[in-house]
Amino acid sequence: MPQQTTDRRQLLRLAAATASTLWLPRSAWSLGRLKHDPFALGVASGAPTADGVVLWTRLLFQQPSRDAYTLRWEVAHDEAFTRIARSGQVQAEPALGHAVHAEVMGLEPDRWYFYRFMLGEAVSPVGRTRTFPRPDAMPARLRLGYASCQRWEHGYYAAWRHMRAEQLDAVMFLGDYIYEYPGASNAVRAVTGGWVLTLEDYRARYALHRSDADLQAMHAACPWLLTWDDHEVQNDYAALHEGTGVPLLGTVDDFGARRASAYQAWYEHMPVRAAMLTQGLGGLARGAELRIYQQVPFGRLATLYLLDGRQYRDRQPCLKDGQPGGRLVDPAQCPEWADVPRSYLGAVQEQWLDGALAKSAGRWNVIGQQTLFGPRDARPGPGQRLWNDGWDAYAGNRKRVTDALQRHAVSNPVLLGGDVHENWVGHVKADYAAAGSPAVGVEFCGTSISSRASASAVEKTLERLAENPHFVFGDAQYRGYGVAEFTPGQLRTTLRAVEDATRADAAAFTLAAFEVREGRARIERR
Ligand SMILES: [Fe+2]
Repeated sequence: MPQQTTDRRQLLRLAAATASTLWLPRSAWSLGRLKHDPFALGVASGAPTADGVVLWTRLLFQQPSRDAYTLRWEVAHDEAFTRIARSGQVQAEPALGHAVHAEVMGLEPDRWYFYRFMLGEAVSPVGRTRTFPRPDAMPARLRLGYASCQRWEHGYYAAWRHMRAEQLDAVMFLGDYIYEYPGASNAVRAVTGGWVLTLEDYRARYALHRSDADLQAMHAACPWLLTWDDHEVQNDYAALHEGTGVPLLGTVDDFGARRASAYQAWYEHMPVRAAMLTQGLGGLARGAELRIYQQVPFGRLATLYLLDGRQYRDRQPCLKDGQPGGRLVDPAQCPEWADVPRSYLGAVQEQWLDGALAKSAGRWNVIGQQTLFGPRDARPGPGQRLWNDGWDAYAGNRKRVTDALQRHAVSNPVLLGGDVHENWVGHVKADYAAAGSPAVGVEFCGTSISSRASASAVEKTLERLAENPHFVFGDAQYRGYGVAEFTPGQLRTTLRAVEDATRADAAAFTLAAFEVREGRARIERR
C-alpha cells in the first residue's frame, strides 16, 4: 500500500508542521524584507479546547510561489506581546496554498490570549482568542454568536462589523461561507473569477472573502467553530451526487474531483485541526472524508455539536425528472418521501451523534447544523408542500434525533441552523405530526449575513407561521446574526438585524429577543 504510506507520512508531516518542528527550506529569518504584505488575508483561530487552540493564516505572494516557508507564531497574555505564553514555528506549504494551522497546546483553561505570525520582517495582524473552560468546570456564561450564508455579491458585511462589538466567546458558522456562482443579477459588489470549479478557483473565492476587513476583524476577535452547507461545493449537492448550476465548460466532469478540491480549499481557509484529514491531504482526492462533525465542551455549562448534513446524506427524494436540485414536493405524490432509513447525516454520523448525546455532561446541548430543523409546510390548509433538500425530506432521521434527545434525557437541547436566509424560532417536538406533542428542545434558525431571501418569503412569513405552529417567530426581511447567551439558569437569544445589507455602513438593531429557562423547553419572547 505505497499510496497509504505516502498519505500517512503526509498527515504526519502536516501534524509535525503544527508542532513547532524546525523545517527550513526557506526560514522566516532568511527572507528579510518582503515588498508586499504576505498576511493580507488576516488571521483566525478556532477549534478551542481547555488547553489549546488552532491559529490560522495563509500567506499570499505577488508571484505564485512553489517554496515552503517557515513562520514563527507567538501567543501572549497581552496585546503588546511582552508576556509570551507560547511560541513556535509552523510550515506554510505550497500543497496547502501556503495556509498554516498552528495547533497550540499547553495554554491555561478559560483564558483570553493574543496571537500573531511572523515571516521575515513581516508581522501579521494581531488576533484575539481564548481557551474553553475545563470540562469539569461550571462557567458563569457563554456568549455564542451564530451566522451563515454570506454571499459576497448580495451585500456587505456590516453584520460582521456589528457582531464584533458583542463581546462573544466564540462564533458558530453554520454554512455557505462562499458561493460557487460567477455573480448575480443586481450585484451589490462583484465577485472575481467565474464559476468556481477547480482548487485554484475555490482558493481564489475564499481569498476574496478573507480580503473583507469586517470578516477579517471578526475572525481575529474570537475563536470560530465551523460547519458547511452546500455552496462550499455546489448548490444542493448530496454526498457524491452533484447538485445544480453545473456550467457546461468541460473543465470539471468528475464531481468527486470537484468536491475534493472544494473540501481541500475549505480546510485550507478554516482554523480547524489537521486530524480532520482522515487519510491525509492526498486522501481527499480519493474520496476520503473530511471529518468536520464534532462535539466541543464549554465546561459543564454547554456541550456544542457541529453536524455535517452534506457529505454523507442520501440523495434528495423526488427530484424533478431525476435531475438534481431542491424543490417543493407534495409528499402525498412522492412514495420515497416516507422512506424512514433515508439519512441526512449518514449512518456513521447518526451513530456518533447518538453516542455523543448519551455521554454529554453539558447543561445546555447546542447542536449547530445546516438548516431549519422543524417542518415548514409551504401549502396553507390541507395538504403539504415541503422542501426536498432539508430535514423535511429526511423525517426518519429527524425522528431518530428527537428520539435520542428523549432516550438519553439530553439536558436542554438547542438547535441552531442557517441556510434559509430567514430567522425562524420554534419548539422542537417529540413528534411533529402529532398535535399536542411535547417540546423536547428549542430551535433558532438564523438569517443570512448577506444572502438575499426571496420576495415571496417576506410576503408569506405570517401565512407560514400560521401553518406551522411549532414556530413562534419568523422573519424574512432582515439579514444579520444571532447571539445566544447561556448561563446555568437560562438561555437568552437575541436576533440582531442590519437595516440594509446592501450598505457597508448599515446600522444594526435588535429584531427580537427570547428566553428559555433551564429545564423547560419553552420559548418566551422578551
Ligand atoms: Fe445560503
